Amino acid sequence: MSVLIKNATLVNADASEQSDVFINNGLIERIEPDIHSADVNLSASSPVEVIDASGKYIIPGGVDVHTHFNIDVGIAQSCDDFYSGTVSAACGGTTTIIDHMGFGPAGCSLHHQLERYHEYACDSAVIDYSFHGTIQHIDDSILDEMESMVLDEGISSFKLYLTYGFKLDDTEVLAALSRLNQLNALTCVHPENDGAIRFLKNRMLARGLKDPIYHALSRPPECEAEAVGRMINLAVLAGDAPVYIVHLSNGIGLEYIRQAHQRGQPVFAETCPQYLQLDINRYNETCSGDFPADQGLKYIMSPPLRDSDHLKQLWHGLQDGTISTVATDHCAFTMEQKRAGRDGFQYCPNGMPGVENRIPLMFSEGVMKGRLSINHFVDLVSTKPAQLFGLYPRKGVIAEGSDADLVIIDPDCEVTLSQSQMHSRSDYCPFEGMTLQGYPVMTLSRGKIIVRNGVFKGLAGDGEFIPRETLNRCFRYWNRS
Ligand code: URP
Ligand code: ZN
Ligand code: ZN
Repeated sequence: MSVLIKNATLVNADASEQSDVFINNGLIERIEPDIHSADVNLSASSPVEVIDASGKYIIPGGVDVHTHFNIDVGIAQSCDDFYSGTVSAACGGTTTIIDHMGFGPAGCSLHHQLERYHEYACDSAVIDYSFHGTIQHIDDSILDEMESMVLDEGISSFKLYLTYGFKLDDTEVLAALSRLNQLNALTCVHPENDGAIRFLKNRMLARGLKDPIYHALSRPPECEAEAVGRMINLAVLAGDAPVYIVHLSNGIGLEYIRQAHQRGQPVFAETCPQYLQLDINRYNETCSGDFPADQGLKYIMSPPLRDSDHLKQLWHGLQDGTISTVATDHCAFTMEQKRAGRDGFQYCPNGMPGVENRIPLMFSEGVMKGRLSINHFVDLVSTKPAQLFGLYPRKGVIAEGSDADLVIIDPDCEVTLSQSQMHSRSDYCPFEGMTLQGYPVMTLSRGKIIVRNGVFKGLAGDGEFIPRETLNRCFRYWNRS
């Protein structure tokens, strides 16, 4: 498919320009003002579709580096697989996802989960994708295997957990950090203090405190911040290993990251729209049914939503560059699945949908409300994630030679978010009723128009696995300021 987009404002992380874009063979072939269709018809591999994008922005396709499709969390199986998850992503302006592979059987190899995830994604994904390795235990064979994951399989980042069933202890964390540093791979961490959560949770349950709000109160900001601080210190001990903090939700941990940056330490942080937009009061949402706190179950995830002061601090953390990326942690369940938490918050599967909402929310609440420049917005949702995770400059930038993954945003389009328009298999939208100014109206994946005015036009299996480069290559593009 060949496409000529005319009269748009092209937005990259470093600058914006008024130009036309010619797309051919899946790549961005020419960026110039005033390209005429007669000029490109000759070189085009197929008839050229001309799109007039006057008054609209074109951004590099969104890169969401934190999703969980097809995940089995033990007490439930997420309702989105690589088809419904990537269709949702595409409809929300995301053209590449990196999925955090779930835990496999105890003792399994890194390749075990990778093979499984290739099977889940290859005939289903509608946009390009990769996976983060998941480290669920440490021994010599896992440390050995990391090398082939990075060099042969193109998996250059791994996540480890400081809580949940397969948490690592400090010795194991140090072994993982040191080895991944040696391989120029990025260590991602879910930071929460497991012992503190267990203590608080047991105390609450012993007192019969089982409503959704107690999920949040059993994992207060200090639990997360302590683990962020610990991880920063362990990364120093591992030889200044680069570390990436996933789903940061609180201002105390943010301050530790800021201090690490002042010392020049390579610590990167991600937050998610829910931690910027929704506060802890959501857990007390009620409905008219027989279980008063029913609606609060929608928001059960870890870390939990925080009070409004933390939300303000996170926005500030984006503005001053302490936070590098915005991802979603999309991990969707239906209300029926979430209602397992009526018997106690501990029975509610953790996570919620969001992959379709990230770009629209960050554009409306960030750019249109004057909190972020449009270039900074592009950096947070596309460029920096692509750079940190070894996808750049194939992804994350509008440049000649890059993949033609592009999103057209109409700033005049007003949309009130509603589950009925979403493409997730979940039956609720956590941002229901929010009115957004500006919305993606077209998504192109490697030159193919896969979403037009909210209607999905792509095909299962069109998405490709993208092997990723290692950190030493990524750092060529990295500049924290
Ligand atoms: O509650 C959440 N965030 N579920 C997904 C798994 C994780 O910790 O990222
Ligand atoms: Zn996590
Ligand atoms: Zn997650």
